[in-house]
Order: sequence, then structure tokens, then C-alpha cells
Amino acid sequence: MIVPGPTSQALAATLADELDEPLADVEYDRFPDGEKLTAAPGFAAADGDRAVVVASTTTDEAHVRLLQLQDAVREAGASEVVTVVPYMGYARQDKVFEPGHPISARAVARAISTGTDRVVLVTPHETALADFFTVPCEVVDASPQLADPLPGDLADPLFLAPDEGATELAVAVRDAYGEGQTDYFEKKRLSGSEVEITPSDADVGGRDVVLVDDIVATGSTMAGSIGVLNDRGAAGVYVTTIHPLLAQNARTKLERAGVEAIYGTDTIERDVSAVSVASLVADAL
Ligand code: R5P
Repeated sequence: MIVPGPTSQALAATLADELDEPLADVEYDRFPDGEKLTAAPGFAAADGDRAVVVASTTTDEAHVRLLQLQDAVREAGASEVVTVVPYMGYARQDKVFEPGHPISARAVARAISTGTDRVVLVTPHETALADFFTVPCEVVDASPQLADPLPGDLADPLFLAPDEGATELAVAVRDAYGEGQTDYFEKKRLSGSEVEITPSDADVGGRDVVLVDDIVATGSTMAGSIGVLNDRGAAGVYVTTIHPLLAQNARTKLERAGVEAIYGTDTIERDVSAVSVASLVADAL
């Protein structure tokens, strides 16, 4: 049975269709003191079945509800609990950046591990995050799928990573698209919402540019890159991202910077979620 967390209801439904498995009813409640209750009442009838909990941890509340769902299905007699985390929150806090800081990604991975037999992650910020889980963790990569919604007639396309770390993703999208060059910009993060972009010397005049990154959070990285590319005469600038977090005013920033279109997957359910990772996850299951 597929058990949807609050942030992954559409993806869980698509996954249930793909696998021809039932979709569990999940109920949400909140107590006067703010504590949450997340229940899967329908799961009791399916005693002995495998439970697949699907929940992106975009918020602290989503984290808690995921832990509650894991516990609920185990308590109800699930023979195996598999946890699919399409987007893993806190993944970018993957090391000690300053003395006294936690490795938050490890802390949440350990918490998730306690309630499950196995984890599936979709293109996490770093593949090494899988090592933070204390149960088997499989990583599936959705980057080739980002080529699917792109127009088929891009002009002399350049697939551009806004920082060096996203180069592999840009290459994967280019390979899936079937033609085009790849390049990357340099990025220096000044604060949580400010970045400094140093462009490469790629000639983008009259060309379509596809920016590729794993996460669009505040949109600063993408907006800065779009601005540079438009100033240099790019024909159109497309943004593709695995995880369209689009926090706060990110969407507005991208539009004001002059983006042609934004395409993401449904690891985070937004109106730009143009492709589903359900078939990839289904294969992993
Ligand atoms: C960072 O290393 C990630 O790959 C993204 O580049 C980053 O999360 C984007 O953040 P923002 O949209 O806030 O600039």
C-alpha cells in the first residue's frame, strides 16, 4: 500500500497507479498545543502488507508527519516499511560549516532510519547523503527526465550549470536532450539568499540556454544567472530543476529576471512540476 505524506499526495497517487497498488487514506489532525497527529486508518485492514511511505520533507511539519506515518503503519502490522523521500530537507546542511554546528542532514537521516527498513531518495543534493542513513538507502537520479518538457527546437542549445557542482546534472540533461554544449558558472554564496555569480566566457548570443540545478530555493542562483545570460543576448533562458522548492518570492525573482519557462519534477508539488519521478521510484521499488 502506498501511504502519502502531506507534501507528496500527487506523486503517491501516480506511484500507486504505476504499481497498481492501493493508495492509503491518511488523516491529519492538530492538537490545541500545536502538536500534530497523522494517521493511516485504512492501513489496519492491510495487516502484513508492505507499506511505502512517500513524503518529501520540505518543512519541519512534513518531517514529523513522515515519522508518524512510519510508526502508524508499523504499528498496524506492516511487514516491511519502505520510505521514499522524493525531496530531502536539510540535505544542504551536510557538514559542519562552523564550530558548534550540527550535521543536520545526518540528524534527520538517522531519525528517518529508525522507522523504516529501507529508504529511496530522488537526486539528493549529494549522493553521499545516502551514507547518513542507518538502513539501506537507494538513490535514483531524475536529471535525464528534465529534458522531457523542453521544446524540441531549441536554438543551438547550451546546458548550463549555475555552479560547478551542478555540472553532472547539466550533462545528464544535455545527453537526454540529444544535442547541445555544456558549461558552468562560478557561484559564491554570500548569505542564505544572496549569491555572487561569475559567468564563464561562453558565447550565448542568439542561443537558447537551459539552466540546470538540483534545487531552486530562494531563486537567487537562477535569477542571477538569468540576468547575466539575458544581458549577453541569449535568445531564451529556460530553468530546469529536480526540486522546485521555490521558497518565498523565488518565482517572482525568476519571472522578473526574464525566464522563458521553468520546469521541475514532482518531488516538490508546484505548478512548474512538469515531469513525474513516479516511474523511476516504481522501478526502485
Ligand atoms: C546549492 O548548492 C544548490 O545546488 C542550489 O544551487 C541552491 O540550493 C540554490 O539556492 P537558491 O535558489 O536559494 O539560490
